[in-house]
Amino acid sequence: MQLVPVALGKRSYSIHIGSGLLKTLGEQASLLDLGRRCAVITDSRVGPLFASGVLKSLTKAGFCPSLIQVKAGEATKSLGSVEKCCNAMAKHRMERKSFVVALGGGVVGDLAGFAAACHLRGLQFIQIPTTLLAQVDSSVGGKTGVNLKAGKNLVGAFHQPRLVLCDIDTLKTLPDREFRAGLAEIIKYGVIQDRALFELLESQMQRILRRDKSLLTQIIARSCEIKADVVSQDETESGLRATLNFGHTIGHAIEAISGYGKYLHGEAISIGQVLAARLSEQCLGLPASDSMRIRQLFERTELPTSIRLNALQLKRLLEAMQLDKKVVGGQVKFVLARGIGRVEWGCAVPLDTVAQLMKSQGT
Ligand SMILES: NC(=O)c1ccc[n+]([C@@H]2O[C@H](COP(=O)([O-])OP(=O)(O)OC[C@H]3O[C@@H](n4cnc5c(N)ncnc54)[C@H](O)[C@@H]3O)[C@@H](O)[C@H]2O)c1
Ligand SMILES: [Zn+2]
Repeated sequence: MQLVPVALGKRSYSIHIGSGLLKTLGEQASLLDLGRRCAVITDSRVGPLFASGVLKSLTKAGFCPSLIQVKAGEATKSLGSVEKCCNAMAKHRMERKSFVVALGGGVVGDLAGFAAACHLRGLQFIQIPTTLLAQVDSSVGGKTGVNLKAGKNLVGAFHQPRLVLCDIDTLKTLPDREFRAGLAEIIKYGVIQDRALFELLESQMQRILRRDKSLLTQIIARSCEIKADVVSQDETESGLRATLNFGHTIGHAIEAISGYGKYLHGEAISIGQVLAARLSEQCLGLPASDSMRIRQLFERTELPTSIRLNALQLKRLLEAMQLDKKVVGGQVKFVLARGIGRVEWGCAVPLDTVAQLMKSQGT
């Protein structure tokens, strides 16, 4: 088991990464000075797989858990679901010291974390992420929230968990496509901060795709460490935290114009990172050989690396990029790489340059 501390003063917590951790939940929660009553929020796919073990562990440690199951899928990240969870928590007579356990992928983590932030003006919560993406990204850092019709993650709160348990055994049942999508975020950590991680991924991708436990523990722990480090330096995204968005400006626009659901987030940011690397060659002098290595690593991970767009789609993509929350004063700001392991944020790139690049892809 590996422990990664997240240093945020009084709100510090630990991320536990390893095998067999679900059954340690009760014991770990007992160390946190929490009330007896708690709610385990999960979804219709994850609940049948893991909820009984989680409930058993909590009950054995003397807690009184209630299970709240929501429908699996992004559509569940809604204010309606927040209301449903809060009603169920009120029915369970949750009190100020009661706590929430988020058991599932990023959808459940974001929803349950936000419900915890709102219910009784703030309950404590524990994250048990069960997708690779949630283990290396969404469960760390305290961003919670839900979607509106007008856009993704528009309503939310910063609310840090008390504890994160990443049980890598839960990844056994994760579909291959979801697993590879999570790897796109891990590759991102290599590109933005850690050349050694990038090189490990290059040399070991076949074993990682076979879900070798010790390698998984190692790369998840390193990813959490990088995210934790960035978040503790810049909790509310005034600067450094922006580097976590490498590949996301174009990636988010691809998700938006192709209708959420065609590409998984990890797939869209895989294309986004390959394109950001190409922009980095032009704007920051990233060596072409590094840019090529970035593309090849995504290819080896069997993730998409390019997208063909007609003129209308290209126009919509450029418009979507300008709507991104990260736009400042009408300029599209990119995170670009100087080398593998070293990025800069706030790089203004003319839209024409992006348009040219999109047209020249795959040629
Ligand atoms: N808060 C943040 O900082 C942050 C960061 C990145 C992404 N996100 C959010 O995370 C969400 C995406 O998360 P996700 O990719 O985990 O998607 P998800 O939660 O929808 O999970 C993907 C699918 O896998 C299923 N699943 C989960 N764990 C499983 C397991 N162990 N075995 C079998 N099936 C399993 C789920 O039921 C779901 O159908 C998005 O809403 C995104 O906005 C948040
Ligand atoms: Zn992402």
